[in-house]
Amino acid sequence: MIAFPSSLRDRELLGLKDLGASEIDSILKRAAYWEAHEEKRIPVLEHCFVANMFFENSTRTRFSFEMAQKRLGAQVLNFAAASSSVEKGESIYDTVRTLESMGIDAGVIRLKPNGVLAELAKHVKVPLINAGDGNNEHPTQALLDVYTMRKQFGEIRGLTVSIVGDILHSRVARSNLWALKALGANVKFCAPDNMKAPDLEAHASYVDMDEALNADVVMMLRVQLERHAEGVLKSQGEYRAQYGLTTQRAARMKPHAIIMHPAPVNRDVEIDSELVEAPNSRIFPQMQNGVPIRMAVIERALR
Ligand code: CP
Repeated sequence: MIAFPSSLRDRELLGLKDLGASEIDSILKRAAYWEAHEEKRIPVLEHCFVANMFFENSTRTRFSFEMAQKRLGAQVLNFAAASSSVEKGESIYDTVRTLESMGIDAGVIRLKPNGVLAELAKHVKVPLINAGDGNNEHPTQALLDVYTMRKQFGEIRGLTVSIVGDILHSRVARSNLWALKALGANVKFCAPDNMKAPDLEAHASYVDMDEALNADVVMMLRVQLERHAEGVLKSQGEYRAQYGLTTQRAARMKPHAIIMHPAPVNRDVEIDSELVEAPNSRIFPQMQNGVPIRMAVIERALR
């Protein structure tokens, strides 16, 4: 197997589990730099070609990567599995190697299965950026989440963050856990028994809904219906009653606390519709912050 130079390993972004606080901090600082730029287009990557390879659906991640790439002047190739030779049976590996052989300088990739991305990255010579793989990691989502918290509170260290809902099927929960722990936050989980992730129990305690509301950040997760085995969610109404952020529960949050959610949102299931744009919700600012974060991550891949 070919060993690639460490510089490639330093430029890819497969996950946050092993990234470390100083590298996360450096990405957050660079995102703040790009956010402060008033010009919409700063064409520093005009000579670079980047492929967005989405083997699973996306709105926020796909378009904010494209926005970030275009703001930096990169040449963007968009690949969607449904209109590609994947439909004729071509593998993920052959698809990525095909785009690589045409001369892309970096690839943003979203995958359904776990474990494929790490293997792929061993065989591809361009940096890959994980745009969400299975229920493993979604590093740029967690980076924009901690960026949003840092803008709100100035500092992550010492914050208490409750992550509530479908932890088992959530790559967002995993990447946030690694980033928040690295940056010194206290993380609590709250989930129904059949949505708890046994592999994460050593890293964060499960609490009940009342205790989850006692936090600086209440991060609600989407119920990931498309990843569920038969019968995981018995009733949306029952789920809302037991684990949803209802207006009554939100009224019990601390006065300074904020609501977050990676979206897309199942309105009136994990969160009441009227809370999505409440004054203490940061759900749309999270999406806005995705652009400078992804500018920083794309620039890091192509430096
Ligand atoms: N938050 C998130 O990953 O959204 P998309 O699936 O729309 O990209």
